[in-house]
Amino acid sequence: MTETAPVRADSRVGRTLLEVENLAVSFGGIKAVDGLSFSVHEGEIVSVIGPNGAGKTSAFNCISGFYRPNNGSILFDGDPVTRRKPSYITRKGMARTFQNVRLFGDMTVLENVKTAMHSHLRQNVIDNMLHTPRYLKSERQCTIDAQGWLDFVGFRSDDEVLASQLPYGEQRRVEIARALATQPKLLLLDEPGAGLNHSEKAELINLIRRIRDLGVGIVLIEHDMGLVMQISERIVVMNYGKEIADGTPTEIKNDPVVIAAYLGEGDE
Ligand SMILES: Nc1ncnc2c1ncn2[C@@H]1O[C@H](COP(=O)(O)OP(=O)(O)O)[C@@H](O)[C@H]1O
Ligand SMILES: [Mg+2]
Repeated sequence: MTETAPVRADSRVGRTLLEVENLAVSFGGIKAVDGLSFSVHEGEIVSVIGPNGAGKTSAFNCISGFYRPNNGSILFDGDPVTRRKPSYITRKGMARTFQNVRLFGDMTVLENVKTAMHSHLRQNVIDNMLHTPRYLKSERQCTIDAQGWLDFVGFRSDDEVLASQLPYGEQRRVEIARALATQPKLLLLDEPGAGLNHSEKAELINLIRRIRDLGVGIVLIEHDMGLVMQISERIVVMNYGKEIADGTPTEIKNDPVVIAAYLGEGDE
């Protein structure tokens, strides 16, 4: 490693976290995903782009266990997870956010983050019922950790308010904090920039980089091309379920197939 090489250059050649091979899922006659292959390494940011309906969210749903793919294989941290349940995949160290924020609206912000924490889930039922010292200690630690993740994502409001009462941008942050609270190796973000204003997007870029710097692999679905080009090590382009390109931002920007299918007619 030369002196000028950024720290992440090192992690990029590190362990492969995710290997998606020839993934396919159909709904009736619609091939939502039709032969998608890509990989993600530790500390790497890979974006998946493509027009609406291209199959990006369906691919995420297959990878995280919400959809059962018809074909292909998904290897996560060396373990075949194809057709495994979301709970298994989460325990293995994959976390995700949703295109439409999914928080427990009738729980407080803090409770939302705490529900994701392993130590919280491991609490013994009896301890919990009797509020033993052990319970109280672990509960306090959970609160401190959850608040730590909320700080990390730049959440600035009251963490005792109900999640449903937060402005949209803050809800997005809480959802990322909740995903991070599971201490994932891989994080899937489905359009985290949607509905955010300019300064919120700048903060999002900064946040994604800080998550990457923790060594977490990130897969990002995002429509904002400026954001994608700035932040991604590699970009996978989908169109009508098919993968039409996989390359660096520069390669993707200059790829005639991508330009014809997407960038040329898109909003950027
Ligand atoms: N659960 C489902 N049932 C039926 N069709 C679906 C389902 N999920 C996705 N699709 C279809 O799959 C295609 C890809 O959708 P999606 O993965 O949401 O695309 P993107 O996220 O790229 O906008 C669309 O035609 C969509 O209607
Ligand atoms: Mg989508």
